[in-house]
Amino acid sequence: MTMEDILRKAYPLLPVLVIEDAETAVPIAQALKAGGLNAVEVTLRTPDALKSVQKISEEVPDLLVGVGTVVCPTQLAKAQKAGAQFAVSPGFNKALGREALRLKMPFLPGVMTPSEVMKAMKMGFKSLKLFPADAVNGLELLKSLHGPLTDLHFCATGGINRSNLLTYLSLPNVSCCGGSWLVPNKLVQNKDWEQISSLAREACALAGRMEL
Ligand code: 3PG
Repeated sequence: MTMEDILRKAYPLLPVLVIEDAETAVPIAQALKAGGLNAVEVTLRTPDALKSVQKISEEVPDLLVGVGTVVCPTQLAKAQKAGAQFAVSPGFNKALGREALRLKMPFLPGVMTPSEVMKAMKMGFKSLKLFPADAVNGLELLKSLHGPLTDLHFCATGGINRSNLLTYLSLPNVSCCGGSWLVPNKLVQNKDWEQISSLAREACALAGRMEL
């Protein structure tokens, strides 16, 4: 599966997860799946991240699971071994790109300037994460990039929420968005999986994918 296929499957939203306790990984993943979503990004920011990836890949096989916050090439092989089907980075450099290609691991590099986009394109990456989207006026940036830099598929992430999701998704070069708002800490602490499903359902409904 290519990164482009994965973004298409993830539409409208790739939830960005920061999992503190691997025991919560499967219920979170199941809740998001029940709410209509097909993919999750587990950020490598907590000690339990890889264990969480492993649990999700084994116990929720109908959900695509990837890793995020990849900043160092050595993280990629470890993530793949744990069951990650794709990887996301907040930025881009050749070492990350080369290792992802070597591992044949679908990879979503982070970019926010035309030069970064061109460097990623030069290595063959056409699916890109615009990060941090809202902080850099991502809507206008994506519109401006669409003219000169064509055939690209963006996942806008950073500051996306229920009020701007649809506007981003309406852009021709946006395949899906990333966001953390579906899985707030408080709901996880309260084990309120039903509310996490509702937030996922709401995001899908906003994008016209299902009814509330
Ligand atoms: C991240 O890696 O934290 C993502 O950009 C999520 O951003 P958000 O919390 O603004 O959705």
